[in-house]
Amino acid sequence: MNVEGTDLMHAFEEAPLEAASVEAPAAVALGRAIVITSGKGGVGKTTTTANVGAALAALGKRVVLVDADIGLRNLDIVLGLENRVRYHLLDVIEGNVELDEALIRDKRSANLYLLAAAQAREKEDVDVDEMQRLMEQLRERFEYVLIDCPAGIELGFRNAVAGAQHAIIVCTPEVSAVRDADRVVGLLPNDWSPELIVNRLRPALVRKGKMLSVDDVNAILRLPLLGVIPDEPAVIVATNKGEPPAFDPNSRLGAAYRAIAARITGEETAPAEVPTEREGGGFFSKLGALFGGRS
Ligand SMILES: Nc1ncnc2c1ncn2[C@@H]1O[C@H](COP(=O)(O)OP(=O)(O)OP(=O)(O)O)[C@@H](O)[C@H]1O
Ligand SMILES: [Mg+2]
Repeated sequence: MNVEGTDLMHAFEEAPLEAASVEAPAAVALGRAIVITSGKGGVGKTTTTANVGAALAALGKRVVLVDADIGLRNLDIVLGLENRVRYHLLDVIEGNVELDEALIRDKRSANLYLLAAAQAREKEDVDVDEMQRLMEQLRERFEYVLIDCPAGIELGFRNAVAGAQHAIIVCTPEVSAVRDADRVVGLLPNDWSPELIVNRLRPALVRKGKMLSVDDVNAILRLPLLGVIPDEPAVIVATNKGEPPAFDPNSRLGAAYRAIAARITGEETAPAEVPTEREGGGFFSKLGALFGGRS
């Protein structure tokens, strides 16, 4: 069960009758805020946020995507929603508009919303407390709040993490990306159990020993593997068109993102599959041994 507070609601249901006369606090089942982070820039955080969000929405979950990359703003483009952005996260924090006015509903899914980043503003314009309050407001309305974190480990990172309860680490099979991801994991709260998405894997290069394998990456990070996304030109094409592959029921990439979404909701418990070369043996092969917590 990923939506917090439900146990609390049960507790109220099962309480003895006389408890009803006591003024009980309103039990709101809060959604789960997940920060998508990496340390290193350009590894696919925004792409992952858009696609995993679309895949969660396709599973029927109410999802909001928050662009916490203040000053840059990318998520709206990846989603093809750039023409609809009128207000942004800072407008809400500063009380210029109500949250509802700033939330942009996706064209394709009634379950999916975007809260855009402010473009002509600085990361310093928002602080940790304000972000925490905003994320809590969003968790009251949505089952999943996915926060697209900026690169780096400075204030933008701290703000993006502030209102979250969970982290997904996006890492490419590059030594520098692994090192930065490891650093980020070390900066997250101790009681979190971040999960890993390996992005841009090229199985042919791995086979030739020219690229780190998922095993190599996770020998360092030692995180539960949520999924592996191959390096595919289709991702770049889709990004340019503002059409995340996760919306396409016939796309292999879409299926990979949907599998990740199903692991997030707990509907899928089988180990994540690692893409292999297409010739012989199918595209994905099981590699359950990669599962395991960070010791
Ligand atoms: N699986 C993939 N296959 C091919 N290209 C990809 C893949 N994932 C991401 N890309 C491309 O990599 C580039 C960077 O992706 P993206 O913007 O999502 O990274 P980011 O981590 O959010 O970057 P930043 O740190 O600047 O915010 C984009 O051009 C995107 O289309
Ligand atoms: Mg980004």
